[in-house]
Amino acid sequence: MGSSTPNPSHIPVMLQETVKALAVQPGGRYIDCTLGGGGHALAILEHSLPGGQLLGIDADPEAIKVARTSLEAYSSSTLLVNENFANLQAICIKYDFFPVHGILFDLGLSSLQLNRNGRGFSFQHDAPLDMRFSPSQEVTAADIVNTSSEAELAHLIRTYGEEGYSHRIARHIVKERPMKSTLHLARTIERAIGRRRGKLHPATKTFQALRIMVNRELENLEAGLKQAVDLLGFEGRLVVISYHSLEDRIVKQFMQQEAKNCICPLDTPVCVCGHKARLRLINKRVITPSLSEIQHNPRSRSAKLRAAERIVIQDDCCGSAEVESFLAEVKARAWRRPALLKKLELVFSTA
Ligand SMILES: C[S@@+](CC[C@H](N)C(=O)[O-])C[C@H]1O[C@@H](n2cnc3c(N)ncnc32)[C@H](O)[C@@H]1O
Repeated sequence: MGSSTPNPSHIPVMLQETVKALAVQPGGRYIDCTLGGGGHALAILEHSLPGGQLLGIDADPEAIKVARTSLEAYSSSTLLVNENFANLQAICIKYDFFPVHGILFDLGLSSLQLNRNGRGFSFQHDAPLDMRFSPSQEVTAADIVNTSSEAELAHLIRTYGEEGYSHRIARHIVKERPMKSTLHLARTIERAIGRRRGKLHPATKTFQALRIMVNRELENLEAGLKQAVDLLGFEGRLVVISYHSLEDRIVKQFMQQEAKNCICPLDTPVCVCGHKARLRLINKRVITPSLSEIQHNPRSRSAKLRAAERIVIQDDCCGSAEVESFLAEVKARAWRRPALLKKLELVFSTA
């Protein structure tokens, strides 16, 4: 932990709601794609006793180290991997960890990362402008602020920070370059747009934009979600906690699309997409933290939880492709039961 860190620990957000949305069951297999300090992972392991298994993934090697300690009691049932969830399927294939009963994404960064000096995520401590989740990534926030054009910076701050004063901020940054540290950048932004009483710190949105850009957060989220659905067994749950509207929009649209049988544009007279629903939405309305959780953990205030369940592909007609995909789904339902799989193989070969 950073030596001057007042409260380095990470409080898992909507813990009970997450365990419930994942429908954690004894003996289940789960993937935590954003392990962080291991708070959610620990609860999943506790609720999946006896026999539960967890694959924990985090891009940040520091997070893996912290989680290894917090999950020590379950070391024989956990596999922790320092990887990016954009490679989710490859990771699961490599470790032969599928199909699973549930997959969790708790997006963004942890308090461990925010509070740790030297990572550059916070405008409260002076540090190099880094902001990478993993030291193996090449581009840092300093590279972006010091080499992008004014127009590129304004666009980035507007798009990923949803900042209304993006042009003014970009102009001041370019005038002040090279940007040497987090505090240098935060003060430049403050000079550009001033401090508004009772509002967010003026640097909040620009820091968010840079972090999203450095870590390609939105692209990785889209890639991770797409791969997650194929890894879920029948009735397996996908649960995502997001912290800002850009993430939540991606999650909402993805789940809604995967829950539809046709995704043709509304004015298409006959379906030409052939899309089949693979998910059922669990909660029609987004789940948010209670007032008491927000009071106890202010970081949770913007959190939104969405959950969906893997379904067998539904179809009215039954051509041979449909039969095949139905049988594939039934196979997924057999989980890891070789005897049952053998029986199903027999059925397939005579079907
Ligand atoms: C909000 S924290 C998770 C906290 C965790 N649920 C807990 O209870 O301690 C998000 C974590 O996701 C990780 N992360 C973000 N994007 C990632 C990605 N694309 N691949 C893997 N890990 C990622 C971050 O490094 C961070 O540790």
